[in-house]
Amino acid sequence: MNITMIGGGYVGLVSGACLAAIGASVTIVERDPTRLAHLRHGHVPIYEPGLNTLFRQGLKQQTLYFTDNLHDALIKSEVVFIAVGTPTRRGGGHADLSYVYAAAHDIAHLAPHDLLVVTKSTVPVGTGREVARILTTTRPDLRFHIASNPEFLREGNAITDFMNPDRIIIGLDQQSSDQGKSARTLLSTLYAPLITAQNRLVFMGLESAELTKYAANAFLAMKVTFANEMADLCEATGAHIDDVTRGIGLDPRISSDFLTPGPGYGGSCFPKDTRALATSARKAGTPIQLIETTIAINDARKRRLAERILTLIGNHINTTTIAVLGLTFKANTDDMREAPSLTILPILHEAGATLRVFDPHGMEQARSLLPAGLFYAQNALDALHSADMLLILTEWPEFKELSPLLLQKHMRGRLILDYRNLWVADALLQAGFTYQQLGASSP
Ligand code: UGA
Repeated sequence: MNITMIGGGYVGLVSGACLAAIGASVTIVERDPTRLAHLRHGHVPIYEPGLNTLFRQGLKQQTLYFTDNLHDALIKSEVVFIAVGTPTRRGGGHADLSYVYAAAHDIAHLAPHDLLVVTKSTVPVGTGREVARILTTTRPDLRFHIASNPEFLREGNAITDFMNPDRIIIGLDQQSSDQGKSARTLLSTLYAPLITAQNRLVFMGLESAELTKYAANAFLAMKVTFANEMADLCEATGAHIDDVTRGIGLDPRISSDFLTPGPGYGGSCFPKDTRALATSARKAGTPIQLIETTIAINDARKRRLAERILTLIGNHINTTTIAVLGLTFKANTDDMREAPSLTILPILHEAGATLRVFDPHGMEQARSLLPAGLFYAQNALDALHSADMLLILTEWPEFKELSPLLLQKHMRGRLILDYRNLWVADALLQAGFTYQQLGASSP
């Protein structure tokens, strides 16, 4: 099957490379000339484990192409995916749909024949229908089918998530003349290689598919936030969050996933999608207060953790060197969007602390986003050098490997604030450290 993917961003690249790997012939349309040049030479512009290999494979087997010419791509395609960004619009929580609608206009103007147009970008309810309206009013001579196919890819795990989906959601236009039958047939064929006894294609209406994506992210953001608030309560009462989450997570109705406390959720999806859902729910006259509260708690948490550190250090802040391990919003990504480090570190820096920071993949992006005057270390040990305290903000596996002995050797002080609960307390306490985790009262 020949496919056009509009957008060489995160979703477009991962989905395009994976679809090429399962038998489709995929042309990714990217308008940015520098990015396009990189892609054509097989350079993957994002850090995503496994994507490089799929890229090389797709280019070698000639199943993956890149172009800036949408018309050329559409000539040979039966299906076109819209995978452009939907950032938060300035001055409100609404998703900015200008790129999606621009893509719909481009398709309408350049389509050489009938097409199935599938929205993969995360879009608010009603967007698919507006895309359909743009297509049919601009080109009444052609027949367009539309569908919504949201993605559930976690950064850092995206290839595995794509290749082993627990479900594939497909929203069909049940109001169209064929009630979405041809879209159903085409997408069933495309995704057939990924269907196993454990998962399935789930068909529904366009609006339901669009909402399913937001509901999934909002629910998970709420779950993480619940774990964070429970962690605070554990600290105040002498309970341990690991025990509590294990205790509730064994109930399959709850499950233990997404119950690890942290410095607040971040990334390009949870913050943006919770805001968009809250805003569109208010607009629809049915506010979702749980999500509005989740957003407020999460924003406040990042600031509160910074203030907690300031209180702990007290008057010595100007003479305190803090080693910071982890800058990205989570491990296995170079993504800094809405990372807790972006709220916490400026507050510490402003207060006068000396910060020695390190992240395995986020350093380049971090430099332009964090205040000037931070020391960017060569590696974790370099960051620890002569530090009075250690602050862990991202759960990179390589940090977990640091032994108490190494920490002792490189640090000047003996205070560790672990906001990702990487280590077992006993070994560090025995080595003479004061070790504070989230959700555990300090000994
Ligand atoms: C999320 C969803 O998990 C994907 O299913 C979805 O496709 C994607 O958004 C998207 O909409 O594109 P992602 O943003 O890559 O994926 O990150 P997650 O792994 O979900 O983590 C989100 C945030 O929650 C991170 O800041 C992470 O550190 C935090 N988190 C997650 C916790 O603090 N504790 C947990 O137990 C789990």
